[in-house]
Amino acid sequence: MKISFINPQIKEGQAKSVAVLPVFKGAKPSDAYKTYDKLSKKRVSAAAKAGQVDGRTGKSTEILGPDGTKTNRLYVTGCGKRDEFNAELFGARVTKALLMCGETTLVIHLDGYGLSPTDAAQAALGAVLASYRFDKYRTTLAADKKPSLKSVKIAIENPAKARAAWNNFYGPVGEGTLIARDLVMEPANKLYPVSYAKRIKKMETLGLKVQILGEAAMKKLGMDALLGVGQGSPRASQLVIMKWDGGKKGTKPVCLVGKGVTFDTGGISLKPGAGMWDMKGDMGGSAAVVGAMHTIAARKAKANVIGIVGLVENMPDGKAQNPGDIVTSMSGQTIEVLNTDAEGRLVLADALWYAKGKFKPKAMINLATLTGAIITCLGHEHAGVFSNSDEIAEQLQKAAENSSEAVWRLPLNKAYDKLVDSPNADMKNITAGADGAGSITAGQFLQRFVGDVPWAHIDIAGTAWKSNRSDPREPTWATGFGARLMNRWVADNHEG
Ligand code: BES
Ligand code: MN
Ligand code: ZN
Repeated sequence: MKISFINPQIKEGQAKSVAVLPVFKGAKPSDAYKTYDKLSKKRVSAAAKAGQVDGRTGKSTEILGPDGTKTNRLYVTGCGKRDEFNAELFGARVTKALLMCGETTLVIHLDGYGLSPTDAAQAALGAVLASYRFDKYRTTLAADKKPSLKSVKIAIENPAKARAAWNNFYGPVGEGTLIARDLVMEPANKLYPVSYAKRIKKMETLGLKVQILGEAAMKKLGMDALLGVGQGSPRASQLVIMKWDGGKKGTKPVCLVGKGVTFDTGGISLKPGAGMWDMKGDMGGSAAVVGAMHTIAARKAKANVIGIVGLVENMPDGKAQNPGDIVTSMSGQTIEVLNTDAEGRLVLADALWYAKGKFKPKAMINLATLTGAIITCLGHEHAGVFSNSDEIAEQLQKAAENSSEAVWRLPLNKAYDKLVDSPNADMKNITAGADGAGSITAGQFLQRFVGDVPWAHIDIAGTAWKSNRSDPREPTWATGFGARLMNRWVADNHEG
C-alpha cells in the first residue's frame, strides 16, 4: 500500500478517489465535511441523518461524490468520542471496509479536528496493517477478489510533520510487522532453517550484520540441546545472529532471542494430526525478532540491538531423539528430554546461553510460541510475560500499551522452579501434568539459562496467529505479534 500525507484539499490536485469523512460524537463537523456538504447540496448531511451516522462507532453511510470534484464516492463514518479516538484502529477499520470497493485511492480526512501528525501516521499504520494479504500461492484468484486500493492518502494539517513521523517510525513499524506475518504465513516446505537464514541474510542491505552458524559450528559450541531437536530432520538447523550497532560504541547491547521451529510435529512424541498444520507458525517468536530487527534498522535506531533466532525443524525419524534421552546443553547443564514435543525450551536454552555469554547484554528478551497452556490461561488477547526483573516487566507493560500488542505478567518463583528438577539429570523438559502451571514451569526452565541477566520471556503461543479475527488490524491468520512490541520496548528504553 502506498501511503502519503496531503493538505486538506477537495476540488483540485486530488486523484480520483473514495474519501472518508469522520463524524465524532458531539463534535462540530470539519471544514472538509462542510465543503463536501455544500458542494453536494447538503447530500452529505442528509445521508448521514438517514443512515443514523451520529458519531457512534460503526455507523457509516456511502454516497456518490459531488459533481466537479475528483471524489467518486464519499464514506461518512462514526468515530465515537473525539478524545477517545484511536487513529490506528480507525485507519484499519476504514481500509478494511473499502479495500475491495473498486477505487484505487482512499483519502482519509483527518483534518479539521485538531488531530496531530502522529495521529495521521498512526492511521496510516492502521491502513497498512489492515491491507495485508498473503496471496502469493493463490494463482487462480479472480480479479474482483483482489484488493482494488493501491494508495491511501491522509489529509491532515501539517502533512510534512506526519510524513516525518511516518518515515522515521511508523512506516518501518508497518514493514517489520508485515515481514513477521509473511514469515509465519509461509508453509514449512518453503520456509525451513536454511531458506529462512538466507532470507534473513538479505537484511544486510539495511545495514544489519548477519551471521549464520551451521550445525558444525553449533556442535563446536556444545549446543546439543538445540541440535537434538533438529536431529530427526533432514533439514539442517541454523542459528542466525543479526547485529544492529546504532548506539554509542561500547554500550552493552540488548538481545532479542526467538524460537524458530519451522515446523513442530512434536517429534517422536508426535502431535495429533488435526490442526497440526498450525505448527508451521511455530517460528512466530523468531519472526517477531526478525520483524523488530528490520524496523530497528530501517528507522536507524540509536541503540545496540542483537537479534538471535534458533531455527530447527522438529521431526519424528529413526535419527530423532527419543523420550528419556539426556542432552548436555551449551551451559553444561543436562536435560532429560521426557517429551520431544517440549522442544522450544531446548532450542532457547542454548540460544539464551549463547546470547548471554557472547554479548553480555544489559537486558535480554525472548519470544516463543512455547506452550499451549498459555492459551488456556490468557486466550488470544494477551501474550504471557515471565521475568526476573520487575523493571523489564513494567517496561513491557508500557510498550504493550503503546504498540497495541497486549501482555500480561505471570509469576516465576522457587516453588515452580523445583518442579523442573529431574532425578536423572539436572532438569527435565516437562513437568508432571498434575502440577499444572505448564507455561510457568516452561518459564522456569528458560530462567535456568539466563544467569543474572535482566530477562523476560514472552509466550506468544496464543497471539502469534488467530483463527477468529475481529481486529481489522489483523486480516490474516498470522498477526506478526511481537515485532511492534519489541521495537517499542527498544525505542522507549534503550535509545539516545
Ligand atoms: N509449539 C508448541 C506450543 C503451542 C501449542 C504453540 C499450541 C501454539 C499453539 C510447543 O512446542 C509444544 O508442543 N508444547 C507442549 C509442551 C508440553 C509437551 C509440555 C504443549 O504446550 O502441549
Ligand atoms: Mn512442541
Ligand atoms: Zn513448538
